[in-house]
Amino acid sequence: MTIPTLDATGKVVVVTGGSKGLGRAMALGFAEAGADVVVASRKLEPCEEVAAEIRDMGRRALAVSCHVGDWDQCAALIDATVAAFGRIDVLVNNAGIAPVAPSVLDVSEALFDKTIAVNLKGPLRLTALAAEHMAPGGSVINISSKASLHPTSLTLVYAAAKAGLNALTKATADELGPRGIRVNAIECGTFHTDSLHASLPSEELQARMASNVALGRIAAPDEIVGTALYLASDASSYLTGELILLDGG
Ligand SMILES: NC(=O)c1ccc[n+]([C@@H]2O[C@H](COP(=O)([O-])OP(=O)(O)OC[C@H]3O[C@@H](n4cnc5c(N)ncnc54)[C@H](OP(=O)(O)O)[C@@H]3O)[C@@H](O)[C@H]2O)c1
Repeated sequence: MTIPTLDATGKVVVVTGGSKGLGRAMALGFAEAGADVVVASRKLEPCEEVAAEIRDMGRRALAVSCHVGDWDQCAALIDATVAAFGRIDVLVNNAGIAPVAPSVLDVSEALFDKTIAVNLKGPLRLTALAAEHMAPGGSVINISSKASLHPTSLTLVYAAAKAGLNALTKATADELGPRGIRVNAIECGTFHTDSLHASLPSEELQARMASNVALGRIAAPDEIVGTALYLASDASSYLTGELILLDGG
């Protein structure tokens, strides 16, 4: 038996929200593992910066501006990827937002629509379009959240959107499985990013959150990347429709 590795040499990987936070860590991590990477988010310039870092590593990279809640822009992202690289092996649906409303009555239609658009509507369309360019062995990785399992009044719409993403993961895994395309989700606990620091600005609040984690600390984004490399590789060739809770215990 050949032991599968996490090597991603020659794979074409699309990462949404790839300009910063976890998406940036994913884009650089996949490049380090040998992949060519498409870095997408709304603002092109930060994507170009990540793409330049990837090219410095000797890989190919493409930066694309894409609002994932807009299906025409989703189509343009997939078209640009295929025009540049000829195929897609891995889609990481990472772009996400978590706006907070003080109460259910304060949830505006605009907040509801944009939270669902970025966390759920975009991933659905991108999965459908990307799968058309995937050969057997293709992998879709949805970045979900522990919030989907433990919703609170503060995470109301976000948690509902991520719970929808969990359902989407299972349903698309079912549909795409016969084509050899696997779909899985990572339900992340808390990790350090700008958006976390904006919502938990004080070290005291961060320490309180860390005290609820078995490992006693908030994760670094890099600590999520290994699981994504696993889900993209043959090491997980019989794993699909799974929601992996990655929260430090
Ligand atoms: N941080 C945490 O503790 C945590 C915990 C659980 C799950 N998650 C999930 O992990 C993922 C990454 O979170 P993060 O903390 O790394 O986020 P982040 O640092 O806020 O970065 C978000 C990324 O998404 C992009 N983005 C935002 N809206 C977009 C849109 N409409 N279309 C395309 N791209 C968009 C942003 O770039 P632009 O502004 O240029 O669009 C940016 O690249 C999200 O799905 C989040 O829900 C995070």
